[in-house]
Amino acid sequence: MSIFNDISAIQNIIYIFSSILFISGIKMLGKEDTAVKGNFLSAMAMFIAVSVTIINVVNPIIVIIGIGIGALIGSLIALKVKMTSIPEMVALFNGFGGLATFFIAWSEFNAIPDNVFQYVLIMLTTYIGGVTFSGSIIAYGKLSEKLKIQKDSIITKLFTTLFYLSILFLVYSTALTSFIEIPIDFYKVLLILTLLGGIGFVLPIGGGDMPVVISLLNSFSGIAAAFAGLLLLNNVLIVAGSLVGASGLILTVIMAKAMNRSIGNILFVGYASTSKSSGSQETGEVKPINVSDAYLILENATSVLVIPGYGMAVAQAQHVVRELGELLEENGTEVKYGIHPVAGRMPGHMNVLLAEANVPYDVLVEPDDVNPSMDTVDVAIVIGANDVVNPSATEEPGSPIYGMPIIEVHNARTVFVLKRSMSAGFAGVQNPLFFKENTRMLFGDAKDSIGGLVSEFKE
Ligand code: TAP
Repeated sequence: MSIFNDISAIQNIIYIFSSILFISGIKMLGKEDTAVKGNFLSAMAMFIAVSVTIINVVNPIIVIIGIGIGALIGSLIALKVKMTSIPEMVALFNGFGGLATFFIAWSEFNAIPDNVFQYVLIMLTTYIGGVTFSGSIIAYGKLSEKLKIQKDSIITKLFTTLFYLSILFLVYSTALTSFIEIPIDFYKVLLILTLLGGIGFVLPIGGGDMPVVISLLNSFSGIAAAFAGLLLLNNVLIVAGSLVGASGLILTVIMAKAMNRSIGNILFVGYASTSKSSGSQETGEVKPINVSDAYLILENATSVLVIPGYGMAVAQAQHVVRELGELLEENGTEVKYGIHPVAGRMPGHMNVLLAEANVPYDVLVEPDDVNPSMDTVDVAIVIGANDVVNPSATEEPGSPIYGMPIIEVHNARTVFVLKRSMSAGFAGVQNPLFFKENTRMLFGDAKDSIGGLVSEFKE
């Protein structure tokens, strides 16, 4: 009999083809000009893989209806989502990936596994999938700022305890599977503890550490999918899951490095050692400046460093920022853009926005490149950034963000801070930069303020 009569052999050949497309697509995401094509290629690869899987499922109609409903909801959300809410959306999508694998593991448990290896795999998939789901929902709440629970609250402590309990229960139940078949009620306890544990995993983590958690949850969703692939003996799920798991893990390490923290410290110590103080209480006189006066200073500057942050994304000010940069250059000023790795709300957030506005890559600089020569910068323009330029991170050992590398704009000759009010950034801490002698606050929406400066230059 030819192998082509064997449906599963054909499926596997197509899976290999999909995996190649999938990997090539991801590789293309690395470059700005091929990213859109890469995204499309990977999505096509997944579509092909899912389509051939449907061929021999018991009830393909139900699967097709499920895909249809999912595609409709996903497309509507993706079309409607604002650029600033994409990180929350990614957190939710990670969570649903985790939930899918949680259900797969549950149904495999009900199908009565026939060896210890399968039992252990089911336990692990249940746990990682469940923690990813409930943890991601909490991450979504924190990122969208809908969920505001204090780290020291009773609720947080209760859920943290449940998280540790869930790990103990996982280890205990997994060890038991080597000797006995676990009764269904016992497994149900694991299901519940897993979901509660996921809440306790993310709840105590806050402030500037969220980027690390998001990428870790992303990695978990991939690992859970790879395990589910092993359970279902589905090759493409193993490949795609492993890719997501590995790339998420690499990103987690990069993010932790950018925050100057170890992953263990973020996950298991959190801010415990620094929670005495909620950050600088520094107050003092704030020196506002208006657009016309700011223009006069900029007109005479020889070097300007622009530091964009989350507020630039909110204001969608990237295009006027590029325009201002060009006008400054025409005026003989050297313009650079200081990009902090965790500025905004997702990895590469500022790079994406500035690329969209056609700011060339070669004028983007990292904190390490620019900090040593900061005292030669005439004007640092901070556009909707707050935590990433907060000097408490380097000067105040009690601060919740102490130890995080920052762009040290306070060492520039003059600093303009563009924001709407005196309110704190994502980490919720006061910023002593606003009260420094060389700082001028240009209050207002970033797009309006920069637009005002552009008009002054054009007049
Ligand atoms: P933030 O510290 O969050 O500060 C953003 C500032 O933008 C706010 O202080 C806000 O002040 C201002 N703003 C908001 N809308 C504005 C508008 N329309 N015009 C002008 N200003 C506006 O941002 P950051 O400095 O970029 O730091 C990022 C933070 O997010 C870090 O704590 C980081 O750890 C965290 N985080 C990052 C990521 C990733 S991967 N990048 C993921 C999750 C969390 P006003 O309200 O007064 O205007």
